[in-house]
Amino acid sequence: MSELVNTKLAAYADRVEKYMLAELANLQNQTAQKNLSVDLLLDAMRHSLTAGGKRIRPAFIYAFCEVCGGNLQTADSSACAMEMTHTSSLIFDDLPAMDNDDFRRGKLSCHKAFGEATAILAGDALICLPFTLLAQDQYLNPAQKLALIQVLADCEGISGMIGGQMMDMQFEQQTHVTPEELECMCLGKTGALIQAACQMGCLCAGASPEQVKAAGNYGNSVGLAFQIIDDILDVTSTSEQLGKPVGSDVQENKTTFVTLMGIEHAKKRAAELTALAHEQLNLFGNPEFLHALTDMLLVRIQ
Ligand code: IPE
Ligand code: IPE
Ligand code: MG
Ligand code: MG
Ligand code: MG
Repeated sequence: MSELVNTKLAAYADRVEKYMLAELANLQNQTAQKNLSVDLLLDAMRHSLTAGGKRIRPAFIYAFCEVCGGNLQTADSSACAMEMTHTSSLIFDDLPAMDNDDFRRGKLSCHKAFGEATAILAGDALICLPFTLLAQDQYLNPAQKLALIQVLADCEGISGMIGGQMMDMQFEQQTHVTPEELECMCLGKTGALIQAACQMGCLCAGASPEQVKAAGNYGNSVGLAFQIIDDILDVTSTSEQLGKPVGSDVQENKTTFVTLMGIEHAKKRAAELTALAHEQLNLFGNPEFLHALTDMLLVRIQ
């Protein structure tokens, strides 16, 4: 089964990468026509986007689109938009003012390769472009576009990823953080985008409100488990394996699932959340791939 999951993940990754590269090429043509000298900015965006992430969020979008009976063409702009949004969050997350990490996805972080100012602008550009792509998509109807734009804007905003990142930074200065506060922060910084990806896949397929809700619940549980495993890997893995520095959390005085409850307890909590996620999949037809992916993410080593 895991071979099947890997094959499908690779196909989804390939699909979204082609779409992203085509959109960057379009952008390059458009800016050239306007005589804008922004090639360096486009290079910085390309550097971070094509550095080889796992493309998990696009995979959730495509997979939920498929289990709701949708055509993958309707999900391309969302998959691309979400991966750009996620990549922008990584560019910012690595900045000296935040986690101060020099490597990402096996390459120099954007600010190390291009300087802080260009990295900040590349991150900004990767936040705006997704909305253009969704608005101009030719396979979605206006109501779908509006719903997708709202979900994307909400998940990255103050009540989602950005709010979670703010709490993450504040916790660095706080002597005591409760498990509830930690979960709340991680549901924001990491869970929100993953939850939105699952919901967006459903919306692309014109799924029922019940399905969108179940996908959201699934994404919440999987998203939190994903951050727990990320925290564990920061302690147990190597930078070669992860493509980003390990030990970064200790260095930055982060409160993580590992510091708060220890590796074994953290693993147990991730397993609990994974079980909850599985339960949300019974509203969908042929959810085998999603079940297998859910399990794979619990034991991932990258
Ligand atoms: C890293 O996300 C940041 C977190 C939210 C934990 P990923 O582990 O999905 O990173 P890439 O996209 O594969 O590089
Ligand atoms: C990242 O959390 C969350 C976002 C980028 C929004 P981390 O700071 O733990 O992610 P990594 O470990 O640097 O990938
Ligand atoms: Mg961080
Ligand atoms: Mg970080
Ligand atoms: Mg981390």
